[in-house]
Amino acid sequence: KDYKIAVIPGDGIGKEVIEAALIPIRAAASKHGAKLTETSFDWSCETYLKTGRMMPENGIDTLRDFDSILLGAVGWPKTVPDSVSLHGLLLPIRKQFDLYANIRPHRLLPGISGPLAKSDFDILCIRENTEGEYSGAGGRVHVGTPQEVAVETSIFTRHSVERILRFGFEQARLRRGKLASTTKSNAQKYTMVMWDEITEELAPAYPDVEVTRYHIDALSARMITHPETLDVVVASNLFGDILTDIGAAIQGGLGFAASANINPLGGVPSMFEPVHGSAPDIAGTGAANPIATVWSGAMMLDFLGEREASADLLAALSRITRRTLLLTPDCGGTSNTFSLAREIANAL
Ligand code: NAI
Ligand code: MG
Repeated sequence: KDYKIAVIPGDGIGKEVIEAALIPIRAAASKHGAKLTETSFDWSCETYLKTGRMMPENGIDTLRDFDSILLGAVGWPKTVPDSVSLHGLLLPIRKQFDLYANIRPHRLLPGISGPLAKSDFDILCIRENTEGEYSGAGGRVHVGTPQEVAVETSIFTRHSVERILRFGFEQARLRRGKLASTTKSNAQKYTMVMWDEITEELAPAYPDVEVTRYHIDALSARMITHPETLDVVVASNLFGDILTDIGAAIQGGLGFAASANINPLGGVPSMFEPVHGSAPDIAGTGAANPIATVWSGAMMLDFLGEREASADLLAALSRITRRTLLLTPDCGGTSNTFSLAREIANAL
């Protein structure tokens, strides 16, 4: 099969990890008879400085024709404020295509040691990606005076809470049958109580899934003390944002954290990207770890229906991570972005 992939390398190490990671991603696809037809878009902060836009006015319509989007990282704070770059490229794609499920796997690849004594965890975090605490509803009055008040309202709709919870139940069913639903319904008495109620309403439809409700503070601690007790975790936009940084930390750092932004109903391109940003501190040095992007590529192949290519790519990754010296400096290796990516391709 032939898939149309929109590639947006973006800024800083985004460009490096995408170019490198595509070597093993393409190899895995072609090994299983799938072809990736790539179109690269130079949408970035550099483009913004030249044209005044992060992406062209018809950018979203241009992307609509693709099967998937593979994105590196967006942001170059030295020249363009982060609020401009984020709102000009990444957020419109998530919003316009209603990519409501942000999925992030957290587990240690073989040979990689995280900061925890425990290593046998395998968590799939699912973050609501369209509303909640990041709805942007609010304002400030009497700015800068002692009377100043700032209000930021979380907006939760039954429609969105229900669909993300359903997606969580369905993912749990495909894995170890355990769902952790995260709220803070002891302190927040409207939104989070509704979330808990919808969780309870849906549970009978998934009798094969054991659902447990956690408060976000307790679950944050549990991810560190007993991560092996968790399977699928479903959380709101803010809570999911925080939990997945804990997840990235316990899996060895940002160089390993992969993500998929998907609309499970299909009909629009989903977007796959490493969780990390453009890393201006190491851009251009060859020190960027491409594994998060390779792993995101494996998630893309899986979502496209190329299960075997995806599994093969992850297996190749797992063979390479055992060999520390082949890795980048963030995980104790002496290699660079491109050599590591080529080794992963060779391991296929
Ligand atoms: P960052 O993720 O770019 O870097 C944080 C730290 O992690 C840095 O020390 C960096 O060197 C290290 N790091 C990140 N990825 C790495 C990799 N693959 N290999 C080895 N080390 C890695 O976050 P930061 O510095 O806060 O943001 C830099 C820019 O990226 C900002 O403009 C920010 O807005 C943007 N950003 C974009 C994201 C996206 O496109 N999804 C996500 C996060 C930040
Ligand atoms: Mg975050």
